[in-house]
Amino acid sequence: MKIQVVKADITEIEVDVIVNAANSSLLGGGGVDGAIHRAGGSAILDECRDIRNRQGKCKTGEAVITTAGNLPAQKVIHTVGPVYNGGERLEREKQDLTNCYLNSLKLAEMNNFKSIAFPNISTGIYRFPKELAAEIAIKTISNYKSETIKNVIFVCFDDENYQIYIARLK
Ligand code: APR
Repeated sequence: MKIQVVKADITEIEVDVIVNAANSSLLGGGGVDGAIHRAGGSAILDECRDIRNRQGKCKTGEAVITTAGNLPAQKVIHTVGPVYNGGERLEREKQDLTNCYLNSLKLAEMNNFKSIAFPNISTGIYRFPKELAAEIAIKTISNYKSETIKNVIFVCFDDENYQIYIARLK
């Protein structure tokens, strides 16, 4: 599996599937969630609503898949990252973030996708420390063995994340 880091807007990335840092409602929000819904159009929200009506909210660490609407990607995987509190919940939060990456990879494999792009899940509004989040993301992806997925792109929108990922992956 080839791993790349780019500084970009994930809505412009041409891969089979992009990952959204959603919230449990699946009904959109700010950050990358807002960007994906704005650029992708209402078809994404329509499918999110259908999923919500069928199975209820998306739990932290879980992932669901929808159309990508007007985006260059074929699909969007919506995963819900942990809100960072640290302290005695830290181990659970680290596992939840790991599960976001694992469950997104599994969904991509189930759909026979070869390329997937991730934002820096939980490191914005959910306040997860960027260094720790990068360590978890890179370790999870690097340890994941797949016959299907050939290309993983970490898409950093802010420079701080970009520098962290470049330093960790050089
Ligand atoms: N492309 C790529 N990455 C982006 C983009 C974009 N267009 N916009 C923002 N980001 C980056 C942020 O810089 C941050 O590094 O996505 C990362 C995750 O930040 P958030 O989008 O705030 O997501 P998160 O911290 O997981 O919080 C999720 O925010 O938007 C709401 O509905 C969402 O309630 C949920 C919460």
